[in-house]
Amino acid sequence: MQQQLLGESEAMEVLRKRISQVAHTPLPVLLSGETGTGKEVAARTVHDKSGRSGPFVPVDCAALSQSLVETELFGHERGAFTGAHQRREGLVYAARGGTFFLDEVGELPMETQTRLLRLLEQGTYRPVGDRTERSSDIRVVAASWRDLRQRVAEGAFREDLYHRLTIVELRLPALRERVGDIELLFEHFLEESCRGSRHPPELEPDVRVHLRRWPWPGNVRELRNVASFVAAMTPGGRVRMEDLPPALLRRPPEVADTAIPVGLSSTEVRIDLPYIEARRLFLDDFQQRYVEAILEAHDGNVSAAARSAGMDRRSIQRIMKRARMSAHNGSRPPS
Ligand SMILES: Nc1ncnc2c1ncn2[C@@H]1O[C@H](COP(=O)(O)OP(=O)(O)OP(=O)(O)O)[C@@H](O)[C@H]1O
Ligand SMILES: [Mg+2]
Repeated sequence: MQQQLLGESEAMEVLRKRISQVAHTPLPVLLSGETGTGKEVAARTVHDKSGRSGPFVPVDCAALSQSLVETELFGHERGAFTGAHQRREGLVYAARGGTFFLDEVGELPMETQTRLLRLLEQGTYRPVGDRTERSSDIRVVAASWRDLRQRVAEGAFREDLYHRLTIVELRLPALRERVGDIELLFEHFLEESCRGSRHPPELEPDVRVHLRRWPWPGNVRELRNVASFVAAMTPGGRVRMEDLPPALLRRPPEVADTAIPVGLSSTEVRIDLPYIEARRLFLDDFQQRYVEAILEAHDGNVSAAARSAGMDRRSIQRIMKRARMSAHNGSRPPS
């Protein structure tokens, strides 16, 4: 069965809604987000909801050699180059009537970018070594882990193609930006791993806290792997700290610089996000930092901190709960 985009956080609700809105349009869609955040799942969802009858054809642009990429994508005519004994159709042809998913689109060589732009603007392409223009009814969905604006600035990505692809840009949130989804996803994948054989084991409270605090640099993919490890290695009915993979018990890794270090020091204004989302992230960050500072000033005493800040105790606790307090600085959410 097709993997669904799971998650009940507001960020995921917004994402699913945008996908539904845009899916049935012919517009190209660019999916951005860190590794393991679900860009490919999102691309398939766009296709499934598009109502297009053709296939979903994924291609990993980073995995194709520079010399082969043009012919893989656009095909070639017989005799187009040494060794081209037969005429060959490319993936663009295979994706006709469907969705062409260009993963890691930022890795495409410049000449291929030019052909892609033509395909997007005019719906036409020319196989390598062929003079005749062909038309193709395809929907393009692209993904990039790298910041495409950066690639444009480096001169490695065509600016006109960038603008064409970013008409609809959907950003997949990192898992640590939606801490509320962690347990839900973990339990889902535990159940998936145990399916048929037994009841999934229950998570002990300290395990839950730890999972919420872990920065998940590999996002949902990492979480899914951890859940299948735990399902395989936990014989009993309960998951305790010692049942987690050892790597998860070490010092948390530094997260990628595109990440929003929740609870740390990001007050950067994110103009790459829609206003509402940028504002929410900025305010969440402020709230967390304010609450951390006020608690620290009152030696962790929530009542004293609340009095001094003129806040409700419960609000402080709610903010603390949401914040993934950095395991580096040893601060702990109050229980
Ligand atoms: N929101 C989600 N709900 C359910 N499963 C998810 C979700 N996001 C990711 N996954 C799962 O996590 C794994 C990685 O997802 P996917 O391949 O889509 O990530 P990606 O963003 O394309 O990563 P990469 O940049 O490394 O290619 C897959 O097993 C996928 O099923
Ligand atoms: Mg991917």
